Amino acid sequence: MRKIFFAIPAALCCIGNIYAANVGIAKQALVGEGIVEFVPEQFDSTVTPALILSHTPVKIGEKPAGWKLSPVYETTDRGGILATVAVPEGTSLYGGGEVTGPLLRNGQKIKMWNTDTGMYLVDGGKRLYQTHPWVMGVRPDGTAFGVLFDTFHKADLATSDDKIEFEAKGTPFKTYVIDRNSPQEVLKGLAELTGTMELPPRWAIGYHQCRFSYVPESRAKEVAETFRKKQIPCDVIWFDINYMDGFRVFTINDTDFPDPKRMNDFLHDNGFKSVYMIDPGVKVDNDYFVYATGKENDVFVKDAYGKEFHGKVWPGDCAFPDYTRPETRKWWSGLYKDFLSCGIDGIWNDMNEPSVFDGPNGTIPENCFHLGGGNLPAGRHSMWHNAYGRLMVEASRDGILAANPDKRPFILSRSNLLGGQRYAAMWTGDNAASYDHMKLSVPMSLTIGLSGQPFNGPDIGGFAGDTDGDLWGQWLGFGAFFPFSRGHASCDTNDKEPWAFGKDVEKESRMALERRYRLAPYLYTAFYNAHKDGQPVMAPVFFADPADPAIRAEEQAFMLGTDLLVIPAFAENPALPKGIWEKLSLVKGDTKGKYQAELRVRGGSILPVGKIVQNLTENSFDPLTLVVCLDENGKAQGNLYWDEGEGWGFRNGEYTQIAFEAQQKGNTVEVSIKDRTGSYPLELGKVNVEVLRNGKTYRASGTLDTPVTVKI
Ligand code: NOJ
Repeated sequence: MRKIFFAIPAALCCIGNIYAANVGIAKQALVGEGIVEFVPEQFDSTVTPALILSHTPVKIGEKPAGWKLSPVYETTDRGGILATVAVPEGTSLYGGGEVTGPLLRNGQKIKMWNTDTGMYLVDGGKRLYQTHPWVMGVRPDGTAFGVLFDTFHKADLATSDDKIEFEAKGTPFKTYVIDRNSPQEVLKGLAELTGTMELPPRWAIGYHQCRFSYVPESRAKEVAETFRKKQIPCDVIWFDINYMDGFRVFTINDTDFPDPKRMNDFLHDNGFKSVYMIDPGVKVDNDYFVYATGKENDVFVKDAYGKEFHGKVWPGDCAFPDYTRPETRKWWSGLYKDFLSCGIDGIWNDMNEPSVFDGPNGTIPENCFHLGGGNLPAGRHSMWHNAYGRLMVEASRDGILAANPDKRPFILSRSNLLGGQRYAAMWTGDNAASYDHMKLSVPMSLTIGLSGQPFNGPDIGGFAGDTDGDLWGQWLGFGAFFPFSRGHASCDTNDKEPWAFGKDVEKESRMALERRYRLAPYLYTAFYNAHKDGQPVMAPVFFADPADPAIRAEEQAFMLGTDLLVIPAFAENPALPKGIWEKLSLVKGDTKGKYQAELRVRGGSILPVGKIVQNLTENSFDPLTLVVCLDENGKAQGNLYWDEGEGWGFRNGEYTQIAFEAQQKGNTVEVSIKDRTGSYPLELGKVNVEVLRNGKTYRASGTLDTPVTVKI
C-alpha cells in the first residue's frame, strides 16, 4: 500500500482539500466494450457494498492501450476519498441525477445526501432526494464518456471544465469509465452496468391525476367521472396519505373509504387504475398489525444504544424498517398481498430519504444502526442513508410481484439511488407552483434521464402553492410529453385538475393530453427502447446531433424518443438541431393553441401514431397513422413496438415489432413494412399515411399488405 502525504494549496482544488494521501489503483480491467473498472487500494466491499450495479462485472481483457480517462484517488483532510478524473478540453458535462440548475453541468457542485427538500430550498437546491454518482461527458466531436463512482456514501460532486471531482465518505470505492462513440452508446454502457427499467404496464405511460389527497370516496369518484364526462384522457387516480387510518401504512380508513374494493372496481369499470401511497415510517402502536409484526420480527432501525429508533412523521412516533436486513425486506414484501387485494394497481413510496420531521437534518440520526445481512454489511445510518429508498423499493417491488405475479409492477419513489430504475419510477418531489420551477422541470427531467432513470417527471402545475390557469396551461402544454406525466398538488392549495381553471384552460388541457394519447404507439416504443437499451425517453436536443456545439446547452426544448422535438410555449430562441424538422399537428387546432408545445418531426423518420383514446386500455389502432418525414435523400424509417401492455408474455415473443420504411420515387412516396417480428396478433387494418413536407401534409391510406403510395 502506497501512502505519501503531501500538501496542496487549497486554492488549487475545487473541493478544497489541504492534506491528501494518494491511494493507488490496485486493479484495472476491461469489463465491457469500452468499459474499464478501476479498483483502488484499500477497496473493501464490506464497507462499500455493490448496490448500484445490477451484477458483478467480469474481466474480458486488459485496459486498452492509450486509454485516457482514469480516476486519481486520494484521501482528504475531511475523512473522505476523493476521485478526480481529468476531462479533455471542450467537454460538455451532464448527469449527476436529480439536480436543480442547468442541463450543462460544467462548473456545478452538488451534495449527495438524500433529503426531503420542500420547494428545493435545502442547501440552495444543491441537495435533493436521490443519489446518482454519475457524470457523462461529450467531447467536441460528439464522442462521449461516462464516469460511475460506485458508492452510496455521503458525497460531494464538483464538475468543472477540466475535471470531475467526487469525494465520498467511507473507504475507497470502485470507478467505472465508459468511453464510446456517442452519448447514446455511453448510456447503453451505463445500462449494461446498472440494468434498465423493466417495461412498465402501458397504463402507467398515460396521464395521472393526483392530489394530497382525494378523499372521501365520493370526491375520488367525482374527479374520475369528470375526466370521462369532459372527455379528457387520463389513466390513473392517485391516493395520497389521507386514505389511511391515522396515517398507518397498509391500512385504509373506513370513514372515507368504507368499501375500497367498491371504489377500485368503480375506477376499473371506468378505465382508470389506482395508485396508493405507502411510506416507510410505521406508527408506534402495539395494537397495529404492521408495528406489532415488525416488532415481533425485530425489523426496525436501532438507535446508538441498540433500542428501536423512533422519530416523528405523519402519524406521530414511527419506527423505520431496516431494509438492509433480508428478514425486513421479506416482512415488508409480505405486507403487500392483502393490501393490494382490494384492487390496487400501483404503489407510491414517499418520504423514503427517509424524512423524519424531528430527526437531525430531517432524517434518522447518523449514529443509528442497520444490521445488514446477506451481502449487506451492518453499518451506521451515515453509511446506509443514501441506499434507504433504493432498498425499500426493491422490497416493495418483490412484494407487489409476489402478490400479482402476472402483472408488471408500477412503483413511484421519491428517493432512490443510481441503478434504482430497476425497481421504481420517480418524480422530482415537492416543487413550487412557479414559472421558475416550471422551466426548471425540463433540465431536471433531462438530467435524470441522462443518469439512467428514463421514467421520471415533475409535479405538473407545481406542488406547493396555488397555481393559476396560465401556469397550469403552460406547464401541461409540454408536461404532456414528460415520460411520467402527472398533475399533483399539496393539501392547502387550490384545485388543480385540468378543468379547475376555466373553459379556455380546460380546452387547452384536453388538447395537450389528446396529443400525448395520440402519440401512445410512439411513446410506448420509446419506453421499450429505454427498457432494452437504457435510452432516455425524454432526451436533450443535442442527442439529435451530438457533434453540434451550438445545441449542447439547450434546455427549454427537448426530444421525446429519437424523432420528435418538443418546444414548450415558454421557450425563447431555443437552439435547435440542423436539418429537416417538419411541424406536426396531432389534434385539430393544436398548432394554434396558446399553451401547446410546438412539435417537430425529424427528417428521415416515421412516427407510429394512434387515435385519441380516453385511456390506454382502449384500442389505439383504429386507425394507425404513420407520420412520414423524409430526409434529404427522400428516405425515412421508423419502428413500432406493441404488446399486451400488461404481463410478461412479451418475454416469450408475444409482442409485435414492425419496421416501416418510406422512399420517394419522383412525386410519390412509397411506404411499406420492411420487417415484422414477434407473435402478438396486432391487426393493423387500414393505415393512414401522412407525409410532412415543406410545411404541407400529403395523405393516403391502405392496408400495407402492399406499399401505400402517397402523391406529393
Ligand atoms: C411528500 C410528497 O413529496 C408529496 O408528493 C405528498 O403529497 C406528501 N408527502 C403527502 O404524502
